[in-house]
Order: sequence, then structure tokens, then C-alpha cells
Amino acid sequence: AEGPLLDRRGRSVRDLRISVTDRCNFRCIYCMPREIFDKDYPFLPRNQLLSFEEIHTIARRFVALGVRKIRITGGEPLLRKDVERLIAMLARLDGVELTLTTNGVLLPKLARTLRDAGLHRVTISLDALDDATFRRMNDADYPVERVLEGIAAAEAAGFDAIKVNMVVKRGTNDQDIVPMARHFRHSGHILRFIEFMDVGSSNGWKMDEVLPSREVIERINAHFPLQAIDPNYEGEVAERWRYADGSGEIGVISSVTQAFCSTCTRIRLSTEGKLYTCLFAQQGHDLRGLLRQGADDAQLDAAIASVWQRREDRYSEIRTAATASRPKIEMSYIGG
Ligand code: GTP
Ligand code: 5AD
Ligand code: SF4
Ligand code: SF4
Repeated sequence: AEGPLLDRRGRSVRDLRISVTDRCNFRCIYCMPREIFDKDYPFLPRNQLLSFEEIHTIARRFVALGVRKIRITGGEPLLRKDVERLIAMLARLDGVELTLTTNGVLLPKLARTLRDAGLHRVTISLDALDDATFRRMNDADYPVERVLEGIAAAEAAGFDAIKVNMVVKRGTNDQDIVPMARHFRHSGHILRFIEFMDVGSSNGWKMDEVLPSREVIERINAHFPLQAIDPNYEGEVAERWRYADGSGEIGVISSVTQAFCSTCTRIRLSTEGKLYTCLFAQQGHDLRGLLRQGADDAQLDAAIASVWQRREDRYSEIRTAATASRPKIEMSYIGG
């Protein structure tokens, strides 16, 4: 009635990312380093998690307020018990693209069920093709083969599109950039290279370990000539490139060297029901309490609107060595 919901920088809310668990079977060195996420780590107890009904209620309000894409994340979202039931509930929301980010190892078991439940797309993380390098990145002894089987299962299930995410850490897996490009050309899947980010407070981020996307493009272009292509939509995170010979498309996500905050339309809902208006937020806004007190739609809308209307975040644009070391929420908790 009062027009679109805008934050203090004129951005609308389009993309809701929902974390359904803070747990993961991987211990990726850039996300859940094993020294910190060990057996004593205080993962959330079950009663602290939002129920599927609570998630659905919040998602429905966001759709009414303008959200057009919902991404299920974690942690590893496929570890959440009966996650396909949540997918089926969210798939009934009209006009929303429903997608999920996973490390892929549970897809041979779940891809078909997820597709049947109404999931549109999947994004699968894979950081190397070389087995030793991949094991070093996931730090949980998962072989590349397990993820490739997951990708194959996703293909067989017939998702609208499959994307593959590779986080690039200079000196750790950057030698796998060209082999990954070679492997996924002609596959129909979109491989995206992500600059290693200073999310959370535990991954020991250093600028020296960021390989700028510019260099990723140069390295691939030297083997397989590339041409820049236009974004699919305003505010798309990945910058798109196509192989000149028509063998497919790749993307680069340059949160560190070319921040994209000015068009950031994303909000995150944590596993326990807090809203985060930035990946690098230090503070969330609790919705679970409100829900459990029996808030109605109008009260939820007002709470969401007040969080979004006060939003000023543009962390990646103002990142410095000092901000990079301040305490932040872990990505496994608020959702990649
Ligand atoms: P699609 O185009 O629908 O596939 O979505 P997307 O490009 O947002 O892709 P995805 O959600 O898979 O995000 C890929 C990666 O980009 C994430 O895992 C993050 O590493 C990074 N990323 C996504 N959103 C943000 C953001 O808001 N800020 C920053 N700094 N990084 C982000
Ligand atoms: N830097 C960049 N991307 C990250 N992810 C998690 N941690 C980081 C980080 N430090 C993203 C990756 C992965 C997804 C689940 O989360 O894209 O594929
Ligand atoms: Fe798990 Fe994904 Fe984080 Fe790796 S990046 S530890 S797979 S949540
Ligand atoms: Fe959006 Fe924050 Fe990422 Fe900038 S740093 S793009 S504001 S989530």
C-alpha cells in the first residue's frame, strides 16, 4: 500500500537466504576451521531452531514484502532432518524462485526427493578437482568423487540449472582454477569463482590469500578465450563471462576487490530466527521471540519493515584490515 520497502540506501529486499542448520559434515578451512568447530563447539540445540512452520510464516511475510528468491543454506542444509518437507512448503509460495546451496555429498540420496518437492535450482560447492587439494580444503576427508556423484544426481533429477561454486584461496587451490574451468566447459553448468572473504572471525583471513577475480579471468582466458556478458538482472552477484567457442558460461564473485553492496538486496534468516541485513553484520534482529509470542502478520511485517528501513550496510565497500579483524557472525550460522 505504501510502495516498495526500501532501506536507507534505496535498496529493496528481493533475496531471502535461510539457514536451516549451523552444522556441517565438512570443515572447509575458509568457513568452519576444525580448530574452532571441534567437538566442544556450541552448536545450537534443537529447541533453538526455527520450526518449518515458523520459517514458512516468515518467508511468506517476506514474499508479501517483495522477496522473489529464496535460498536454503546452512551449514549444510541437507543435514536438516526432513528438509524436503520445508522445500515443499516454500515451493507453494507464488512467484518465488526456490534454490539451495549444498556441498553435494547428500545429493545422491536426496536430489530426486528435493526436485519432486518443488526445488527449482541447486548450487554445489566444489573447491578443487585434485583430490588431495580438495581434501585439504574440506578438511573432512571427502573425496572429489563424492561431490561429482552429487552433481550427477542433480543432473539426473532435472533441476532448472546447476551452479558450481569454487572459493579460491591463493596458494591453496588456485592451481585448480584452469582444471576446474576445463572440466565444467561443455557441461551446461555454471562454474563460479568466489574471492576468499573475511566472513566470521575464525578463518584467519589475509588479503594475500585473496586471488582477485581479474586474475582468475586472465588465467582462464589464456587457455579458453572469454567474452564478458551482461548480467541476468540488476544486482546480480556474479559477473558473467562466456567461452568464445560457445562451450558455456562462468562467473566471478568479487566481494573483496569489486564490492557489490550498492545493489545488495539480500537479507539472511539465521537458524534460530534472527535477521541479518549483511553477511558481515555484528548483530541480528530476533523474530523467533515475536513469533512465539503469537505475533500476527501485521506485527511481523512491521518488525521486518523496521529492520529493513534502518539498514545501511555496505561492509565490502568499507572493508579495511581493521574491520576485517573485528568480531563477526560465522557464515555457517547466518547462511552463505
Ligand atoms: P544466483 O545468481 O541465484 O545463483 O545467486 P548468487 O549469485 O547470489 O549465488 P549464491 O547465492 O550461490 O552466492 C554465491 C556466493 O557469493 C556465496 O556463497 C557467497 O560466498 C557470495 N555472496 C553471496 N551473497 C553475498 C553478499 O551479499 N555479500 C557478499 N559479500 N558475498 C556474497
Ligand atoms: N569466502 C568466500 N565464500 C565463502 N563461503 C563460505 N565461506 C566463505 C569465505 N570465507 C561460501 C562459498 C561456499 C558457500 C557454502 O559459502 O560460496 O560455496
Ligand atoms: Fe560446510 Fe559449506 Fe561451510 Fe564448507 S563452506 S564448511 S560445506 S557450510
Ligand atoms: Fe550486501 Fe553486506 Fe555483502 Fe555488501 S557486504 S553485498 S551489504 S551482504
